[in-house]
Amino acid sequence: MKTQVAIIGAGPSGLLLGQLLSRQGIDNVILERKSGEYVLSRIRAGVLEQGMVDLLREAGVDKRMNAEGHPHSGVELAFDNRRVRVDLAGLTGGKTVMVYGQTEVTRDLMAARETSGGTTVYEADNVRPHALGTDHPYVTFDKNGETLRLDCDYVAGCDGFHGVSRQSIPADRLKVFEKLYPFGWLGVLSDTPPVSDELIYARHTRGFALCSMRSPTRSRYYVQVPLDEEVEKWTDERFWEELKRRLPEEVAARLATGPSIEKSIAPLRSFVVEPMQHGRLFLVGDAAHIVPPTGAKGLNLAASDVNTLYRLLVKVYHEDRTDLIPRYSQTCLKRIWKAERFSWWMTSLLHKFSDEEDFETRMQQAELDYLTSSEAGLTTIAENYVGLPYESLE
Ligand code: APR
Ligand code: PHB
Repeated sequence: MKTQVAIIGAGPSGLLLGQLLSRQGIDNVILERKSGEYVLSRIRAGVLEQGMVDLLREAGVDKRMNAEGHPHSGVELAFDNRRVRVDLAGLTGGKTVMVYGQTEVTRDLMAARETSGGTTVYEADNVRPHALGTDHPYVTFDKNGETLRLDCDYVAGCDGFHGVSRQSIPADRLKVFEKLYPFGWLGVLSDTPPVSDELIYARHTRGFALCSMRSPTRSRYYVQVPLDEEVEKWTDERFWEELKRRLPEEVAARLATGPSIEKSIAPLRSFVVEPMQHGRLFLVGDAAHIVPPTGAKGLNLAASDVNTLYRLLVKVYHEDRTDLIPRYSQTCLKRIWKAERFSWWMTSLLHKFSDEEDFETRMQQAELDYLTSSEAGLTTIAENYVGLPYESLE
């Protein structure tokens, strides 16, 4: 097989990159380890920045998002039994976010790929990139017991945190930056109406809680739990009780509860590798960086990497601008580090780190009090939450 761009991974990064490239006449093949159904069964976040919404529009996959997504012009912070609204639109000159699940984005991208006729090989085992330092890289993989070879010009590593792409770069060429947090998020998805029209990020002495949503009839809630917590120990009743205790009383009183349709625990991590490229391989999205979910930045950062690589490859193929290639990593990282900072900071501000009422606890309280009583404080949250501008290559 032969193509221009070999894309490893059919998550949102790989599918969006493939769709954008196909529309520019740049041939690509996607190799995915799992089945399409498996990819769609993963429950992930659901807040899209304006930049990602625009990119989905450019990719021509905005029809259902326009109809079923919900623009949000504010989010709330809750603490000390009260709520403060962050007026995203008012503080950022009219910018908003779109609440539309990653699963739905993925579904739309899969449908678009089917229509465009692009090749996606699902259940491709043992995917391996080769000869990345040469002008003729290729990727091998196993399918139906046969080993196949895909020759290409470039490889896009869109295969997530546990993928093969990052591991294909010699360890001494990469610098890893990592921070683990001493807690995780227990998440529940339920077919109940959301407790509020806007997302609520709550700080409480028992730990952080988040009220989010997928639609007017489907909610997504989270509570902070210790890292070693076992999901089996959380009945639905226990989850709802704990969530209520962490919310302002008037919010808790309105919370509609019901059976969970998904329940899982995810650890929180900050992670970045530098550089995000090696020879003809580019790392995109979770393959290169992870943020704790507190700022809803994971998927959005993947989209900004896709934006950078897409514009770079269009210039390479249409204008012969191979001189831009070395700029990929530094262009992406500028924005990534700012989103890493915001996600780490929101996490530090809102989570419980100690059982004691210690100095750090008072600092958190004072910071929240300050931020929410100052227009400058609220603006710094708002402009990061809606998403910082995309970096340009030149
Ligand atoms: N070979 C082929 N495919 C692979 C391999 C491999 N060795 N390893 C992983 N994959 C596939 C996974 O099965 C998955 O479908 O790559 C895909 C990676 O998708 P995601 O993990 O969703 O990563 P990405 O596309 O970068 O999506 C952005 O940001 O914070 C997150 O929730 C957010 O998942 C979202 C991500
Ligand atoms: C979600 O809806 O799953 C969600 C929303 C906001 C976050 C994290 C997760 O910050």
